[in-house]
Amino acid sequence: MNIKAFLAVTGAAALVASGALAQQTGPDDDRLVVNNEIEVVTDAPAPDHMEFVRTIYSGWRFRSDETQSLQMDDFDNPAFVFVDQAIDDWNAEMGANGESCASCHEGPESMRGLRAELPRWDEDAGEVYTMEMYVNECRTERMGLDAWGWNSQDMRNMTALLASVSRGLPINVATDGPVRAAWEKGKEIYYTRFGQLELACANCHEDNYGRMIRADHLSQGQTNGFPVYRLKQANLVSKHNRFRGCIRDTRAETFSIGSPEFIALELYVASRGNGLMVEGPSVRN
Ligand code: HEC
Ligand code: HEC
Repeated sequence: MNIKAFLAVTGAAALVASGALAQQTGPDDDRLVVNNEIEVVTDAPAPDHMEFVRTIYSGWRFRSDETQSLQMDDFDNPAFVFVDQAIDDWNAEMGANGESCASCHEGPESMRGLRAELPRWDEDAGEVYTMEMYVNECRTERMGLDAWGWNSQDMRNMTALLASVSRGLPINVATDGPVRAAWEKGKEIYYTRFGQLELACANCHEDNYGRMIRADHLSQGQTNGFPVYRLKQANLVSKHNRFRGCIRDTRAETFSIGSPEFIALELYVASRGNGLMVEGPSVRN
């Protein structure tokens, strides 16, 4: 749908009348190299399943030079304070019998590649698994500990650590096979209009990326950079928390963090980034 048709049928006309949705400026042409070492591809041909988009872009390409530069060196990237905390947790003998993550998995580098494939079908559990679910399965089933809250600081820190070891690897999430039903459900949510503004994810992140909305430069809403460090919050933000925030901006009530709906949406949105690279933990405004 083009912008005019979109405005004609949604309450977003009010946004435009107030000058909230402004001119197209597109992604910039900057190149992302992290630590002078990891070359990160930030655009790629859209995966075949995407009908209305030809090229996919990392959210990094829509940020200011200042914000972009923070992500180019781990010493400047404020997320790494939290990654360091997760390394301490990884090595801590916190299990009921003194186990640490390290005692079974060695270093966090042993998880390289995992972030790029998640969410994915877990054969033993018979459901779609996210990183949070793997971490909590080990805590509860293998260490005799309580689960971490999905959106707790400890969990966000750990997912940041486990993302960081996969940086530079291409996102490669399955859309077929046993995950298909969840993927379809996620796709349906992506195109559903929510709230008083009657806006779907697609209305902003597919039809209008590149435009300014209020003071923000709209990206394609990709998740390859998650968890992200948001300067505004001075903390890590999980994918589900971002989804919830975006839906709230349409003045709708929302699915809860960790819900089957958000897991399905996470899978579908991740698959829209197939071909981009893992960047997490990235930096956003
Ligand atoms: C008692 C041994 C043990 C401990 C302690 C343990 N794990 Fe695991 N973990 C496993 C086993 C076994 C699996 C499943 C088989 C596999 O993939 O290695 C697994 C799987 C995982 C996976 C999925 C890996 C994959 O490639 O599928 C993640 C992520 C993970 N663990 C994270 C953690 C974290 C974080 C901690 C600490 C909070 C932890 N584990 C503690 C034994 C352990
Ligand atoms: C009213 C417009 C609007 C709608 C509708 C909307 N978003 Fe967003 N979203 C934004 C803005 C603005 C940002 C911050 C700038 C950016 O990265 O695009 C954002 C950011 C994001 C990001 C972070 C991207 C990054 O690289 O950091 C993700 C992921 C995202 N949105 C997903 C979604 C999903 C999924 C939906 C539907 C449930 C949705 N959004 C609905 C406006 C919207």
